[in-house]
Amino acid sequence: MPAIVVVGAQWGDEGKARVVDWLASDADVVARFNGGDNAGHTVVAEGLTLKLHLVPSGILRPGATCLIGAGVVVNLRALVKEMDELVSYGLDVGPSRLKLSAAAHVILPTHRALDGAREDARGKDAIGTTKRGIGPAYADKAARVNLRLGDMAKPEEFAERVAEGVRAHNRRLQERYDASTLSPEEIAAEYCAYARRLAPHLVDGSALVGEALEAGKTVLCEGAQGMLLDIDHGTYPYVTSSSVIAGGALTGLGFGPKYVSRVVGVAKAYTTRVGAGPFPTELLDETGDKLRGTGTNPWDEYGTTTGRPRRCGWLDLVILRYAARISGLDELALVKLDVLSGLERLKVAVAYERDGEPIKHFPAEFGLEALAEWRPIYEELPGWTEDIMGVRKFADLPAAAQAYVSLVEEQVGLPVTSVSAGPERDQVVTP
Ligand code: IMO
Ligand code: MG
Repeated sequence: MPAIVVVGAQWGDEGKARVVDWLASDADVVARFNGGDNAGHTVVAEGLTLKLHLVPSGILRPGATCLIGAGVVVNLRALVKEMDELVSYGLDVGPSRLKLSAAAHVILPTHRALDGAREDARGKDAIGTTKRGIGPAYADKAARVNLRLGDMAKPEEFAERVAEGVRAHNRRLQERYDASTLSPEEIAAEYCAYARRLAPHLVDGSALVGEALEAGKTVLCEGAQGMLLDIDHGTYPYVTSSSVIAGGALTGLGFGPKYVSRVVGVAKAYTTRVGAGPFPTELLDETGDKLRGTGTNPWDEYGTTTGRPRRCGWLDLVILRYAARISGLDELALVKLDVLSGLERLKVAVAYERDGEPIKHFPAEFGLEALAEWRPIYEELPGWTEDIMGVRKFADLPAAAQAYVSLVEEQVGLPVTSVSAGPERDQVVTP
């Protein structure tokens, strides 16, 4: 009866896709439960570097049925483009492989335009969103005025409602933001064609997941974004608009907690963030630049979705403890340990300092100001110079790397069940 939930434990970009790809070798269903094409999930396997935004990272495992669940917001243009790309790589994304929950929501091009206009209007107070229309689409969902994927079953009626939606958004674009509008007729025609193409993929996603779980199959629930971007428990307002935590898998897919057998938190061996908002362990020096890389490799710290350089800093265990509690994590997958190779000294935040006192828990009750003002308390460790990309067993890691992983386990109170030591699928270190 296992549902396995994989969530990001930091600010996104933790490398969830590679963990999902890895666990998907034993999964019957791989289901995305939140977010939209703000996500950028990179899988390196079989000589391919796949950049996925909407399609679950299980698509590379032929045995897994992939589902885009009810909690996702879907830009149809982006989905179709991604499907075409996957087909060009020889992957099957037909209706038997890729299923779309009828209850998932639609992102219109005008949601994107509104996201951009609102961000521009906020000026220096901008959230730094991906401008993919995520916030406006979830807002329309909550306001009960949005279109759902199930509406594509009747393409002509769908097209009419798309045109209506675009007209309503156009009024807001014009009146509120003095921004340019988009053509309702052109978008309706485009979306009508997508509806015809995608309608055969529609399913009752919750029934698909429920029946699989009842039959004793394994359902892997793939989260997008990371703990601190969660709409309820993240660093609001510098968050995304969906439920990112493990609980989001239950609401986003529609099944009960009794089926969850394992919750995996994915964390990078350091911390990154894109967009605005406080970041206690941020490094604005050459160590930060070293972590970021030059952008020449696909795994350097530049956004998969927007290409923005990511803010980089030391690993923050206060954040991981918070993620462990809120998502009820059973274990951690520590990603990109190889990036730390060659740094002479390493620092890890184990608490924050408030009025000379160490505070070990995430200061959610004190809000963003605390996060911006309280200084991290670091534990320093020696680095290692060895190349660890060929290592596959914990015991074969350099002693300093083992000590780094042990500190994480001890401080967070969770086992680290895998460490990634390179971008390739098989560059995984296990106990
Ligand atoms: P994956 O799945 C990193 C960030 C944006 C911004 C905030 C709100 O690849 O980990 P939004 O467009 O969602 O309204 O932006 O959230 N953000 C992400 N950061 N990885 C992501 O996804 C993100 N999705 C959104 O940078 O700060
Ligand atoms: Mg990302």
